[in-house]
Amino acid sequence: MQDVDAIVKEALAAFAGIDDADQLEQVKARYLGKSGLLTGLLKRLGKLPAAERPAYGSRINAAKESLEAALNERRESIQARKLDARLKEEALDVTLPGRGLGSGGLHPVSRTLERIETLFRSMGFEVADGPEIETDYYNFTALNQPENHPARSMHDTFYLADGRHLLRTHTSPIQIRYMESHHPPVKIIAPGRVYRVDSDATHSPMFHQIEGLWVDEHITLADLKGVLAEFLRLFFERDDLKVRFRPSFFPFTEPSAEIDMSFGEGWLEMGGAGMVHPNVLKNVNIDSEKYQGFAFGLGPDRLAMLRYGVDDLRLFFENDLRFLKQFN
Ligand code: FA5
Repeated sequence: MQDVDAIVKEALAAFAGIDDADQLEQVKARYLGKSGLLTGLLKRLGKLPAAERPAYGSRINAAKESLEAALNERRESIQARKLDARLKEEALDVTLPGRGLGSGGLHPVSRTLERIETLFRSMGFEVADGPEIETDYYNFTALNQPENHPARSMHDTFYLADGRHLLRTHTSPIQIRYMESHHPPVKIIAPGRVYRVDSDATHSPMFHQIEGLWVDEHITLADLKGVLAEFLRLFFERDDLKVRFRPSFFPFTEPSAEIDMSFGEGWLEMGGAGMVHPNVLKNVNIDSEKYQGFAFGLGPDRLAMLRYGVDDLRLFFENDLRFLKQFN
């Protein structure tokens, strides 16, 4: 019969040499399992003389207990080492500086549009909206633009593949859409994106316009001049700002003018304007004998250029953050 002490010694050495939890359980079975060495000794206890049995039995039990205790200790240390390794692997360096969250900001053109809306609201205008994909009717025909007008050509206008729709070339179709559903007095501005086959330092293929429309019984050219001059002075916060009306032509206004402005050095065109043409009123069933009004179309991108001192319009739309960040 193998000596109990020898078995214990061998088992303790075996346990100590193992670093893996599963392997430890397998080795445990060799000593404490159903057909393990210590269990074997116990089974043969009955063959011993009765007088020796109690002493030998309690030696085996003590051996079992010491092996169990050694096993537990080993299990714990294997687990502790595993945890240590994981903590090391997943270590966070809490002393590193944080990355922070960059704060966003409004695009300079959006800021300009908001400012324009606020100023016109303060003069009693409501803000209206319309689609960027238009039909030929709203963009041209209803605005008294004849079939053969050059602005209708593919050269100037982006047409959709279906040939029936186009990207609006100005915000003026909103005049028609609004007056179709609202009876005078009508007093609105309508900001939005417009599109033209156009690109240089002061022209972008996508740009913004603000349409203005005031139709009532006694609106005159003097109201147009007053509203626009007041708006531009408020917008630029300058009393010395000069506004000039230059005779021009638009099919949907009569008379028509280009609005130029100046801080002293030269003139810059800010938009077109005029008195709404009677044919336009007729197209939306408004009696042009009773009602008249003015309309204008301003270029807010150019207003933003002047206000912020930017000399190339395309910078606004390249979306280079180094440029855009300067405005926030
Ligand atoms: C029009 O688009 C008319 N619908 C304006 C109007 C409305 C007249 C109501 C009468 C009554 P025009 O093509 O001139 O007009 O454009 C108006 C303004 O938009 C220009 O003065 C300019 O400030 C701006 N603009 C025109 N093309 C571009 C472009 N490619 N890039 C940036 N701004 C532009």
